[in-house]
This record gives sequence, structure tokens and C-alpha cells, in this order.
Amino acid sequence: MSEPSFQHHAERARRGQWEVHTLPWDEPLNLSSGSKREQTLSKLDLLDVVTSLYHLKLGARGRLGRQLVRWWGPDEALLSCMEWHDADEQRHVHVLRRLQSLVSSKGEPVSRNDRPLDPSPLWRVAADGRGSADQALLHTLIDEAVMRTLFSRVATDNRIPLVRAVFDAAAQDEARHVDYLTAMASLRFEGEPPHRLVKLHASAVWHVGRLLAALRPYLASFAGATHSSQDQIASAMFGAASNALSDLGEGWKTAPLMRLVHSADSSPWMLWILR
Ligand SMILES: [Fe+2]
Repeated sequence: MSEPSFQHHAERARRGQWEVHTLPWDEPLNLSSGSKREQTLSKLDLLDVVTSLYHLKLGARGRLGRQLVRWWGPDEALLSCMEWHDADEQRHVHVLRRLQSLVSSKGEPVSRNDRPLDPSPLWRVAADGRGSADQALLHTLIDEAVMRTLFSRVATDNRIPLVRAVFDAAAQDEARHVDYLTAMASLRFEGEPPHRLVKLHASAVWHVGRLLAALRPYLASFAGATHSSQDQIASAMFGAASNALSDLGEGWKTAPLMRLVHSADSSPWMLWILR
């Protein structure tokens, strides 16, 4: 890996840094203009959305630390990319928790009695650094691509200005993460022999399934927070993984195993995962 290839990613990350206090924390946070029941639902959806992403990120930070050690080497620019990445994730964890506490303090106290959610599977999926360094890199890329899409959807479709601002700022960081990880993975996997590629494809399919299954309990909340349907959210998540994997090269677009991800929208596989 040549150093200059990651120099512009590192520079872009440095320029893209932002301060938590620059977000509009003082703006009034109106959960919903509808009935009390609608306000409660809006609050629950938002809390679920924030909590799920918070735990994904907590897990991702643990894995990133291991990745940094694994990739420790002479490529200073790449290490800078990973350090900025960690700085971004730490900021996201902080703003998500701050948003969670703000939303919790609004309106009536609520608890999710109908379907208690346990975010630990999300943490486990994101923190899991088992397998080879290449597999961990691939899984990180998939997680980042799916998170970028979720942050973007909420930033675009939620009606609360503060929520839009927080999610938009994070989505821009996520876009950078996807870009440098795509460059890193493309370099790593270039010229891999077919038998090793098949193993990586299988690992990607397995991880997409695991991530989507962990996010499944939160689909309704993401749908509520973005005024869309659960199917649309699920399709967007599969689409994010599909696009990220396609960007790794021609073999990743056409391999039979990869078609499970690329055609997830029209396959029984998606229905099985989401059931
Ligand atoms: Fe990220």
C-alpha cells in the first residue's frame, strides 16, 4: 500500500472535523405537532433509533482499536485515517447520548412495554473482530455503509431540526469512512485468488445477514422516525450493503454469492431475515 493513496483521505478527514457545540442544541425540540399519543410514539421511535446507532458505534469503536493494531505499519496516512475515524465515532457516541437525554426529558416519561428492545446484539455484531483482518475490514465497511444510509435517511426525513442537524453531521463523517475503507479494501482484495475471494464473499453475506437481523427489531422505529415503511428502510439497508460491496470491483458485482445481497429485495432471503 503506497502512502500517497491515503493522504487525501486523511486530509479530508482532518478538514471534516466539527465541534459538538456547533450543533443547534438550544433549538426547541418539538417531538410532534399531533396528539399526545403521537408525541409518545415519536419519542419512542427517536429513542430507539438513537439507542440502536449508539450501540452499533460503541461496538465499532472496540473493533476499530483492534483494527488499528492489526494494520499498524509504515503507512502513516492510513493510520491517520483510522485515528480520525475513531475521533468521529467518539463524537457520534457523545452527540447521540446527548440527544437521547434531551429526547428523554421531553413530554411524558415513557417506557417501551410492548416490545422491550435489547441493543446488545447490535453491540456484539459491530464489536466482533473475529476472523482474518480482511474479514474484519469487510465487516467494518458493511457496517459503515449501512450506518451512513440510516443517518442520511433520518437527516433527510425527520422533522425535528436538531435531529436533522445531528444526523446530517454524522452522515457526512460516515461517507468519509465508507470512502477510505472502500479504497483500503479494494487495494487489499485486488488480485486475490478465486478461492480466497469466495471466502470473503461468504463472509460478507454472513455479516450482512447478521447485521440486518440485529437491526430488525428497530425497523419500525426507523420507519416512524423517517415517515416511511419498514420495507423501505430494510431495502435501503440492503441497498447500502449492496452498493458498498459492488464498489470493490467487478467480481463483487457478479459473483453468485454476492447476488444474495444485490438481489435481496426480491429474494426470500430478505424475508427470512426480517421475519
Ligand atoms: Fe463511522
